[in-house]
Amino acid sequence: MTRLELLQSIIDSYDKKTYLEIGVSNGATFFRIKCRKKIAVDLNFAFNTLKKIAWNFINFSNLNNSYYQLESSSFFKKNKERLKSKGGVNLIFVDGMHTFKQSLEDILNSLEILSTNGVIIVHDCYPPNEHAASPREEYPTKAIKLREGWKGAWCGDVWKSIHYLKRSLDEKLHISVLDSDYGLGIITLKRSFDSSYKIDDLLFNEVLKLNYSDLINNPKKMINLKSSDRFKLDNFMNF
Ligand SMILES: C[S@@+](CC[C@H](N)C(=O)[O-])C[C@H]1O[C@@H](n2cnc3c(N)ncnc32)[C@H](O)[C@@H]1O
Repeated sequence: MTRLELLQSIIDSYDKKTYLEIGVSNGATFFRIKCRKKIAVDLNFAFNTLKKIAWNFINFSNLNNSYYQLESSSFFKKNKERLKSKGGVNLIFVDGMHTFKQSLEDILNSLEILSTNGVIIVHDCYPPNEHAASPREEYPTKAIKLREGWKGAWCGDVWKSIHYLKRSLDEKLHISVLDSDYGLGIITLKRSFDSSYKIDDLLFNEVLKLNYSDLINNPKKMINLKSSDRFKLDNFMNF
């Protein structure tokens, strides 16, 4: 199952009407999604106006899109209250900067604007190898890229955000990762999220030190990894 298939099946099965994507790039996922209202956020969109117009004809959902070319943190700061006052966003896809800190901030901001029964999907939560899991500071050089096993994908350490949330907010969130398309994190609320929540620095620093081997030795414990065999959406939604 790809991220596009998962996102669209959530929209179709649970009648989701609003979709927000953090990190859109060339719109490979965003433009294909069919949803009543779609919001795109990227600090640097990788498409031009012509492509945007062309997609209006290919998928009519795109006629109602909003585009924000800015950093995700600024987007949330400027639009949080307005989105909350409209009842929140039904489905949010977090796929921006692939660092532990930024992905955690994007998820926490997303939790604040999530509607009742809303869903957050996080991309790149289960890197296929150690190179793909390199933190940004150690982003592989060309030489490392050419080593055996490297297929070009970079997931960074987004998986640490999932692990952090499992440890810090387990009572408030349902969290799992589908073992498909580099790991699709699925987050839903058990109960309402307290917007005054602050990142626990001690826990953050502890998680920051973890290695890819910690993840790969026990993915069930670390990120609640679930096989994509016999995938059933209902088993993941928990609402
Ligand atoms: C992996 S791509 C997104 C792919 C897209 N979601 C898809 O499924 O095709 C990551 C994107 O995140 C954007 N990005 C990185 N850091 C960001 C930030 N802090 N705020 C907003 N966008 C960011 C990059 O410009 C890039 O286009």
